Amino acid sequence: MGRVKIAAGNWKMNKTAKEAVEFVQALKDKVAGADAEVVTGVPFVCIPSVKKAVEGSNIKVAAQNMHWEENGAFTGEVSGAMLADLEVNYVIIGHSERRQYFAETDETVNKKVHAAFKYGLKPIICVGESLTQREQGVTAELVRYQVKIALLGLSAEQVKEAVIAYEPIWAIGTGKTATSEQAQEVCAVIRKVIEELYGKDVADAIRILYGGSVKASNAAELFNMSDIDGGLVGGASLQVDEFDKIVNYNK
Ligand code: PGA
Repeated sequence: MGRVKIAAGNWKMNKTAKEAVEFVQALKDKVAGADAEVVTGVPFVCIPSVKKAVEGSNIKVAAQNMHWEENGAFTGEVSGAMLADLEVNYVIIGHSERRQYFAETDETVNKKVHAAFKYGLKPIICVGESLTQREQGVTAELVRYQVKIALLGLSAEQVKEAVIAYEPIWAIGTGKTATSEQAQEVCAVIRKVIEELYGKDVADAIRILYGGSVKASNAAELFNMSDIDGGLVGGASLQVDEFDKIVNYNK
């Protein structure tokens, strides 16, 4: 099938621009020969200097959020047009922290995904259940619903380019990683719903990541599962050596 794996860091609200540049400069050579695509999801204010620092390397840059409108009276927001102007490659959309603390919904996720494509940014769309939802046995239904709404109205070509990150909320920042079987099971559910909606070609092409306490010691096992195409990594992406090992999980 030949899906290229992705190791994407999500720095969240961490690192100043100066720290960010030091980080990518230290990371550059270590990940130069990586088989996986290397992405760093940095705070907005770090984007210009990080983009400059990674020039000529294989490190791509993601924003952690965006607004769906091009411009206007939305104090504190950043648009897809602004990110495209900085040649940002990816944008993380609908992270559970954004859903939980900033009232994002499946509908706003869908609007943002459309806007991302409009400006040539590849969306990394986050979905995943809470512990209560897992215990209630509704994980598969919930994740199917989240994926369906996130992708509503997209073309097959767009869906092929999109990335979905399955991130069980109970595994984020808790040190409690989903087992590779649990992660694989839900990633397979996601691939299945995409097949139902867009056909096998698209389902085979789209990359589905796992996120939630990914670290150097569990990356290989997770990333080698048949429906897991890499990871969205929070805490462990903040340390050069740890993130290097995740990127080079197969070495
Ligand atoms: P974590 O975060 O790796 O620190 O659990 C993952 C994420 O929130 O994307």
